[in-house]
Amino acid sequence: MSSSQQYTKITQTDLDFFIQILGSDAVWSDSESLLKYASDETEDFVFSPDVVLKPSTTVQVSTILQYCNQKKIAVTAQGARTGLSGGALPLFGGVALSMERFNKIIEIDVNNGQVTVEPAVITQVLQQAVAENNLFYPPDPASKGSCFIGGNLAENSGGPKAVKYGVTNEYVLNLEVVLANGEILQTGANVLKNATGYNLTQLIVGSEGTLGIITKAVLKLLPLPQKNMLMLVPFHSAEQACEAVAAIFQKGITPSGLEFMERDALIWTAKFIGDDSVVIPDHVQAHLLIEVDGNDEDVLMRECETIVSVIEKFEIDEILFADSQAQKDKLWNLRRKVGEAVKSQSVYKEEDTVVPRFELPKLLKGVKEIGKKYGFHSVCYGHAGDGNLHVNIIKGNLSDDIWKVELPIAIREIFELTIGLGGTISGEHGIGYVQKSYMNIPFGQVELNLMKGIKNLMDPNGILNPGKIFPD
Ligand code: LAC
Ligand code: ZN
Repeated sequence: MSSSQQYTKITQTDLDFFIQILGSDAVWSDSESLLKYASDETEDFVFSPDVVLKPSTTVQVSTILQYCNQKKIAVTAQGARTGLSGGALPLFGGVALSMERFNKIIEIDVNNGQVTVEPAVITQVLQQAVAENNLFYPPDPASKGSCFIGGNLAENSGGPKAVKYGVTNEYVLNLEVVLANGEILQTGANVLKNATGYNLTQLIVGSEGTLGIITKAVLKLLPLPQKNMLMLVPFHSAEQACEAVAAIFQKGITPSGLEFMERDALIWTAKFIGDDSVVIPDHVQAHLLIEVDGNDEDVLMRECETIVSVIEKFEIDEILFADSQAQKDKLWNLRRKVGEAVKSQSVYKEEDTVVPRFELPKLLKGVKEIGKKYGFHSVCYGHAGDGNLHVNIIKGNLSDDIWKVELPIAIREIFELTIGLGGTISGEHGIGYVQKSYMNIPFGQVELNLMKGIKNLMDPNGILNPGKIFPD
C-alpha cells in the first residue's frame, strides 16, 4: 500500500515552515533526537524520521497535517513509544509527530464520572489523579507508569484489569481528532449511551494513528473499588494452570486480575529485578496470579474460598496469599516486569495471541508443539482470564537465517492455530509493523478491502503512519 517513493523528503523549506508555525524549540532534526524517535519498544527496530515535531495545540497539529498532506510528507504520530507492534516507527522517515506536550488532565468531572485528557497524559498519572476523587480508570497496560493515554487509545490497550473491566475502548466517550487534511472533528458526545449515527469514536480507537491524530479524549470513570485480595498459585503443570482459568469463571467469579506466568517468566523476572527471595521448586511449571476486588471484605473472602475450591482440584503447591500492600505490590511488579525481563535476556519476538478462554490450554499446548517442530524456545505469560497469551519467542542460539526465514513460517502456524481455536492475532498490542504480514490470516479480501477503503477515504494520500496494519 505504501512505498518510500510515494513520500517527499523533508527539505530546509519544510523545516523553516515548521519553525515558523511551532517555534524553533518544537522542531528537532539533530541526529541524537532523530535516533531517539526512531524506535519504540518493539524488538530492535530503528527507522529514523527526517524531523521530530512537538506541537502543543490542536491548531498546530491541524496546520502540520494540512501542510504534509499537500506535500505528501509521511507523518507518524508518537506517544511514549512503549508499543510492542512497531506502531510508532516512522518507516518512511518524514515527520515524527511527538504528542508529548499534550500532557494535561483538562478536567475531572466528578458529577458525571468523566475525565477530559490530552493524549500525552501517562496512564498511571491519570489513574492516580482520578483515584484522589474516589474514581477509577481501569485499563492498566504493563507499561502504565510510562505509556500515554493516546498510545493506549491508538492501540486499544488492555492490561490485567481488562478481565473484569474491559479494555481501553470501553472507556472512551468522545474524541477530538485531526484528520489527514487538517480538519478537526469531535467523534461523539460526552454521554454514556449514544445511538447517533456511525460510531466514529470506536473507528478511531485502535486505528494506530492511521486514520487521524487524537488531540483530546473524554473518558468514562467508575467508582474506585476499596478493597482487593491477591493470591499466587503454583501449578505443577502449565496446561492445568490454563484449565483452571475457565473453571474459576464457571463458578460465577469474575476476578479483577487472572494472570498466567510460565516457570521461566517468573524465574527470569526475579533475576532481572534482583529478587532472590523467589524460589521456584523444579516441579512447579507455572503460576496463576489471581486478584478479586470490590468493597466488601466478606464477599471477597467468599470469592477467594470459591477460587481455592476450584484450584485445589488441580495439582498445586501451597497458595501464597498477599498479606500486605507491600507484598501485593511486589507480586504485581514481578508480573509487570516479565516483558522487560525477557527482552533483557535475548532478542525475541512477542506474539499477542488471544482465544476464547476455555481454549487456552489447547493454545499453550499447540504453541509448545510448534516450538518443538521449529526448534525454538518460548516463554509464555499473559492475561489468562481474557484468553490472551503473550508468546515470547526467544532467539537464543538460533541462526539469523532461521530467525528471518523459518520463524515467520512458525509464527504463521501459531496464528493459524489461534484462528482455528476461534481467536485472533492480537489481543492488545496491535498490528502495527510487525504483524501486518499476517493480517490475511484473520481476514479475507472482503474485510481487508473494506478497511483499506476507510483508510483511503480518511487519508487519501496515505500520509498517516504509512506501512502499518495492511500487508505489503
Ligand atoms: C504485558 C504486556 C507485554 O502484559 O502486554 O506484560
Ligand atoms: Zn499484556
